[in-house]
Amino acid sequence: MKTSGYQPKLDLNDWQTVTEKEYERVYSIIAPELHSFVEEHAALGHLMDQVRIKYDEEIYQQALREIETELSQHFYYEETFILPRLSRYFATDEVGPCMKLLQEHGTIRKNFRDAAELFTTRNAAEPSKDLVQKMNLLAYLLKKHIEKEDHYFFPMVSLILSQAEKDEIAAEVKAAYEARGKQ
Ligand SMILES: [Fe+2]
Ligand SMILES: [Fe+2]
Repeated sequence: MKTSGYQPKLDLNDWQTVTEKEYERVYSIIAPELHSFVEEHAALGHLMDQVRIKYDEEIYQQALREIETELSQHFYYEETFILPRLSRYFATDEVGPCMKLLQEHGTIRKNFRDAAELFTTRNAAEPSKDLVQKMNLLAYLLKKHIEKEDHYFFPMVSLILSQAEKDEIAAEVKAAYEARGKQ
């Protein structure tokens, strides 16, 4: 990120932009019943790639709107439909994938609230370094979370859960979206 005088406090440079080719391969190691989650990752990851380019009021606004929706739907569906089923396969939830996933969701939710607050109180003529830095951090956290879920979490869930459990998840996600008026 290069704006005048802006020095990021964190090194957020280990960043790979979303490519369709990579996603084709990712889909091949994840159960079809869980693909809706990965499709949403791809779309959000692409938006985070745009956030990272530079300050753009419209992109920031769109990104915050999309993230807010993701937090109440996608994140919530992972927590409600997947984690309780996965947790049965582990001796404890005090460590391991369920605990870590929830922890990351919590960190992302907090940084989203901070970013939304900074955006609401922004000076459009001269965006603050804090806003740009917070948006970049939020984009980075989401990007890394998505990468982890695409390459570790969902492939692992695909192998651990039974076919019946995966079918149940797909049915619950479908019903939840339908209840919200989205097919
Ligand atoms: Fe997640
Ligand atoms: Fe996810």
